[in-house]
Amino acid sequence: MDSLLIKGGKPLHGVVDISGAKNAVLPIMAATLLTPERCVIRNVPDLADVGMMERILTSMGASVQRDGGTLTVQASRISDKADYDLVRKMRGSICVLGPLLGRLHRATVSMPGGCVIGVRPIDLHLKGMRALGAEVKTMAGYVRVKSRRLVGAPVFLGGRAGPTVLGTANVMMAAVLAEGQTIIESAACEPEVTDLAKFLNAMGAKIAGAGGPTITITGVKQLHGAEHEVIPDRIEAATYAIAGVATRGEVTLRGARIEHLTAVIDKLRDMGVKVEGHAGGITFKRGRSLRPVDITTLPYPGFPTDVQAQMMTLLTLIPGISIITERIFEARFSHAAELLRLGADLAIEGPSAIIKGGSPLSGAPVMASDLRASAALVIAGLVAKGITQVNRIYHLDRGYEKIDAKLHGLGASVSRVAGS
Ligand code: EPZ
Repeated sequence: MDSLLIKGGKPLHGVVDISGAKNAVLPIMAATLLTPERCVIRNVPDLADVGMMERILTSMGASVQRDGGTLTVQASRISDKADYDLVRKMRGSICVLGPLLGRLHRATVSMPGGCVIGVRPIDLHLKGMRALGAEVKTMAGYVRVKSRRLVGAPVFLGGRAGPTVLGTANVMMAAVLAEGQTIIESAACEPEVTDLAKFLNAMGAKIAGAGGPTITITGVKQLHGAEHEVIPDRIEAATYAIAGVATRGEVTLRGARIEHLTAVIDKLRDMGVKVEGHAGGITFKRGRSLRPVDITTLPYPGFPTDVQAQMMTLLTLIPGISIITERIFEARFSHAAELLRLGADLAIEGPSAIIKGGSPLSGAPVMASDLRASAALVIAGLVAKGITQVNRIYHLDRGYEKIDAKLHGLGASVSRVAGS
């Protein structure tokens, strides 16, 4: 397993190009299953998760060609079953369930399983499928859905932690070919859901209200091929912005959308960070002294849970008490123990992390555990005195395109070490 060796203490300076959004492109790739015609998707990031989704689509019979950042998919004929071993490895692949039900009226997909950040059930996904008339069975690690007819219906998709992003995506994709109208209440408002709806509408679907809490889908007979450019990755953007601030540098994000980063920019400005949007992108510059802040993760447009770990690293550097409360996932503090190893001073109290900021970090070997926790450890390594070795960086390669090259381009002293 590869590691990243980071020599801390160098401020990041310069411009970094933000790639296409992982969490937009995965459901959009799944949506190509809804038509036998050719689809072209642009601004596709080169990520392990995208490669995994390509393999899943291919295993189901679709043809997938990749040419740089452009993916061409044609699902002329597809099986109703997604490969158990592939789906089991990547939670995001659960979003093939909706398109299979929409197009074939049946699907057999492995239960996605949880991961280090929580149990991650799919009860709301299945509630939506049942609302459309599907019979749902779970057995031997698979979920099987089937329905003679799919009939549009109202469905409330709010769960114990609010809306579900991929649940909204799945129900939308199952409903586009159903008879009649489906109204999703408590829909996820994330920009990635809006981007998926835009792609589905380009394929001939009739979806209104995406980006808001009520989405209306009027079923159509069939969908045709379409072309689409994926939105930039707001989580990658936030990660590099925080890395620039943490290292006392100045970083410009080229290609990021300022309207997707409102909550993150609001918090950084509260801390005293200078943020300026301009033709060349968005520039983040650390002010003279930063203030501690309190953060609670919430569904979009609230503060994103996917930026919580990175912010924790930054807050460990700022003198004073900061509190982070994680309201989306029940176990998303795996980075805390590793930050302690680097010299941070914090305690976890239930859903909250109490951070006593200001203690200097010193480099050490640390273990990456999930995608965003790994990013938090990389940011810590960029600041810590000495060398930090971040192990198991395959987690990073799932969601950060060319992270070592991009950090290098910003002046970081970072190198990838091939693992045993
Ligand atoms: C998406 O996961 C993202 N992944 C996650 O990003 C992101 O953290 C999450 O949305 C929340 O924003 C992709 O888009 C591929 P949810 P998703 O369903 O859709 C509970 C990353 O780092 N829930 O919105 O799986 C669930 O347990 C990843 O890029 C139910 O209770 O998340 C959680 O507490 C990590 N029942 C909350 O809802 C359900 O049926 C939000 O989960 C579904 C979810």
